[in-house]
Amino acid sequence: MMIRTLLLLFALVCACSALHLSDNDSVQDELHFRSWMTKHSKVYSTDEYHKRLQIFTDNKRKIDKHNEGNHSFSMALNHFSDMTFAEFRNTFLWTEPQNCSATKGNYMRSNKPWPDAIDWRKKGNYVTDVKNQRSCGSCWAFSTTGCLESAVAISTQKLVPLSEQQLVDCAQDFSNHGCNGGLPSQAFEYIWYSKGLMTETDYPYKAVEGSCQYNPQKAAAIVKDVMNITEYQEMDMVDSVATHNPVSFAFEVTSDFMHYRQGVYTSTECHNTTDKVNHAVLAVGYGRDNAIPYWIVKNSWSSSWGIEGYFLIELGKNMCGLAACSSFPVV
Ligand SMILES: *[C@@H]1O[C@H](CO)[C@@H](O)[C@H](O)[C@H]1NC(C)=O
Ligand SMILES: *[C@@H]1O[C@H](CO)[C@@H](O)[C@H](O)[C@H]1NC(C)=O
Ligand SMILES: *[C@@H]1O[C@H](CO)[C@@H](O)[C@H](O)[C@H]1NC(C)=O
Ligand SMILES: *[C@@H]1O[C@H](CO)[C@@H](O)[C@H](O)[C@H]1NC(C)=O
Ligand SMILES: *[C@@H]1O[C@H](CO)[C@@H](O)[C@H](O)[C@H]1NC(C)=O
Repeated sequence: MMIRTLLLLFALVCACSALHLSDNDSVQDELHFRSWMTKHSKVYSTDEYHKRLQIFTDNKRKIDKHNEGNHSFSMALNHFSDMTFAEFRNTFLWTEPQNCSATKGNYMRSNKPWPDAIDWRKKGNYVTDVKNQRSCGSCWAFSTTGCLESAVAISTQKLVPLSEQQLVDCAQDFSNHGCNGGLPSQAFEYIWYSKGLMTETDYPYKAVEGSCQYNPQKAAAIVKDVMNITEYQEMDMVDSVATHNPVSFAFEVTSDFMHYRQGVYTSTECHNTTDKVNHAVLAVGYGRDNAIPYWIVKNSWSSSWGIEGYFLIELGKNMCGLAACSSFPVV
């Protein structure tokens, strides 16, 4: 604690002396950075301070430039703003392709009508609060619990947060890799096979992989079958969300997504194929903004990211490969 305090003082002294030497623009940058540091309780060593200031400033310029343009979504600083996209990718995204392909899924489209818009958050108590995967590539586990929590709640009217940590620790035999990636479809297979998933309370999240502590007697949710939606059949995803429940999907996160703030995300930077997707999330509804149809998506980067933890992404174009591998459990 003593050392940290000293380092902080040292960083501030250095930073203050640097202030006098800087030109006007960099003074503004540094002031922005300091207030951002305070807001996000960040502390750095002196070397780190200068490195992070530079990265923060680069990010801020990109954000300001984007927001001056005519885009369907805006960007903002957030808790990731002192990271380069390369660092961000290594910490939060899959760095290797997953076996994400259901060239022929088993989901059959219903004949039921689709509402023009649907938001499962508003239809009842069906969606748990946005969670935070922290520094662990476990998005797939959060997409899985989110989907199962909602499917169970829609079927039983009871909403119970479920355990990501059980998936991180125990689902390796189904090609899941703890903090290094996995897939919701494979995680649903694991839950089906192991006959249950425990609650968040009974098996809390630690953001690191540990030994499996699954106790079948404490299983709180089961999976009876897994529905894989055929690759690139985005309208089957719409059918699933319209007539069943929220749906897990994966897409490719590129640098323009890291600072998403609000609006309908579209990108020319991302790819649209199964081998490129690197992040799993949960579609909890869809709607339309002026002419642009969009998905309403729950992310796992805390409620301080995006729109209270959610984002909108264009629907109907397999944007960023979002229709490459989607699935949901039958409960
Ligand atoms: C420094 O920059 C700000 C805004 O960029 C400007 O309003 C201010 O007048 C400048 N001050 C000096 C001393 O150049
Ligand atoms: C902004 O983009 C929208 C949609 O692409 C377009 O309809 C509009 O004309 C653009 N506005 C300007 C000022 O370029
Ligand atoms: C993909 O599947 C193969 C064969 O089942 C397996 O060996 C490999 O580890 C899987 N890849 C990933 C990233 O899980
Ligand atoms: C669904 O996907 C999972 C994992 O990707 C796979 O193990 C399973 O066999 C698939 N189910 C069907 C019915 O195709
Ligand atoms: C991916 O995008 C390209 C270019 O827009 C398009 O031609 C192709 O059909 C898309 N592929 C898929 C699987 O969506």
